[in-house]
Amino acid sequence: MLVAENITKRFAGVTALDKVCLEFPAGQVTAVIGENGAGKSTLMKILSGVYADYEGQIYFRGQPVRFASIRDAQACGIAIIHQELNLVPYLSIAENLFLGRELTTDWGLLDQKQMRRKTQELLTRLKLDVPPDTLVGELKVGQQQVVEIAKALLEESEVIIMDEPTSAISESEVAVLFGLIRDLRREGKAVVYISHKLDELFTIADRYVVLRDGHSIESGPMAGMTPDDIIRKMVGRDITIIRQQAGKTCGEPVVTVRDLCLRHPTRPNENQLKNLSFSVGRGEIVGLFGLMGAGRTELLETLFGLHHGRASGRVWVEGKETFFTAPIGAIKAGLGLVPEDRKRDGLVLGLDVQTNISLADLGNVEKTGLLNRVKEALLARKYITDLRIKTPSEKQEARNLSGGNQQKIVLGKWLATNPRLLMLDEPTRGIDINAKNEIYKLMLQLADAGMGILVASSELPEILAVSDRVLVLSEGRLTAEFSAAEATENAILKAAIPSTI
Ligand SMILES: Nc1ncnc2c1ncn2[C@@H]1O[C@H](COP(=O)(O)OP(=O)(O)OP(=O)(O)O)[C@@H](O)[C@H]1O
Ligand SMILES: [Mg+2]
Repeated sequence: MLVAENITKRFAGVTALDKVCLEFPAGQVTAVIGENGAGKSTLMKILSGVYADYEGQIYFRGQPVRFASIRDAQACGIAIIHQELNLVPYLSIAENLFLGRELTTDWGLLDQKQMRRKTQELLTRLKLDVPPDTLVGELKVGQQQVVEIAKALLEESEVIIMDEPTSAISESEVAVLFGLIRDLRREGKAVVYISHKLDELFTIADRYVVLRDGHSIESGPMAGMTPDDIIRKMVGRDITIIRQQAGKTCGEPVVTVRDLCLRHPTRPNENQLKNLSFSVGRGEIVGLFGLMGAGRTELLETLFGLHHGRASGRVWVEGKETFFTAPIGAIKAGLGLVPEDRKRDGLVLGLDVQTNISLADLGNVEKTGLLNRVKEALLARKYITDLRIKTPSEKQEARNLSGGNQQKIVLGKWLATNPRLLMLDEPTRGIDINAKNEIYKLMLQLADAGMGILVASSELPEILAVSDRVLVLSEGRLTAEFSAAEATENAILKAAIPSTI
């Protein structure tokens, strides 16, 4: 269906793709695998008309094509779900879906009714239960991702490219998506699927192609492959996956929380967090598990002073009672928060890597009120090395880095504040398996050095890999606590599923 031949793409200082040759057959799901920064998204942007300046040739159904714009590619039948959300928060779901391809009546007016109806149809198919008029800015990240998927499915396309479509959605939504992908395959479409979640690839992909450092390495059928095979092809060598040693003893609490409540923003009689009490010890990694909407993010944000006015309860940091009315207080007291949505809350995309890294603690790089750019560059270079951030230099704009490497900048920014309690919200979203492993290793090292870590994740294997203790949230309540030895997937899931009374 779609063939890429000798595709080369250069950015200032980086060759993102170097003579890449790949094929995407009809009626098959092709997984594109590769580490962060391997060039996956860049290639997809070329195939879908985002970048028009590249070398090489693309063939669609055997015919040479060259797309001048996204619309051009769309008209040809190529749709893409982008890795980073590309929705307009101030427009409704229906308006976002039809942006640039609005339906009109015979009179040339916008056909709101028809657009709303089509949107509703798609939302029903995708099992997203919100009205088409809802502003996208009011949706959760996961819901926004479903809208992004709907956008790609709106028009009949022959090739559907999915660049990490599941990085923010829950398991039931993944199941719905996979059902759709199977339909598309049956209809003879070519599906291109990118994900760092290996189990997904084994569930849905028929073939794989490997990109490494901008080169196409090899391709083949998924059948008969093992996860280790895939990792080896991706990284070019074997890696061993880290796991926490059970039964580690931890120091006294860095943070203690009693009766933490958070009022619902619009329903005053309802609480989003209900009387939470727990503590995190020095050197301890506490995993926070919960299904979508359980209140994980709200909990971390409340501790960080982001919901002042709606929150109540008592908090002690290193024995001293404190309640933060704003993040600045939390940072000063030694808390750090790597947020869930790196693009919106974690980074200033238009600033370079070095400015982003120094941003949470300017004290590191300031002298008598002036910024010392040399010191700032040194600080950035330290984290670029430590975290293996793939960037041509510390002067690169954050927006130009690959998704996984952007995530590492956010991590570096908070490590630079040297926090006592580091809170991480889905820290490995969009991160390749090798980098994930490095982040786990880093968390274990930081804990060994005495830092308390509270990590919220929707991925059970991740929780099990790093936690000394696991807390389970369900509908705003703490429903269970497990030591590393007691924590099993079954027990955790059972506690996470809301009781049906
Ligand atoms: N607009 C840009 N300007 C400069 N460099 C860029 C730009 N876009 C991508 N790059 C660089 O090209 C390389 C490939 O990036 P790309 O986003 O394609 O990686 P990826 O395989 O999708 O990674 P990830 O798994 O992290 O999403 C990276 O080194 C990245 O920094
Ligand atoms: Mg990418």
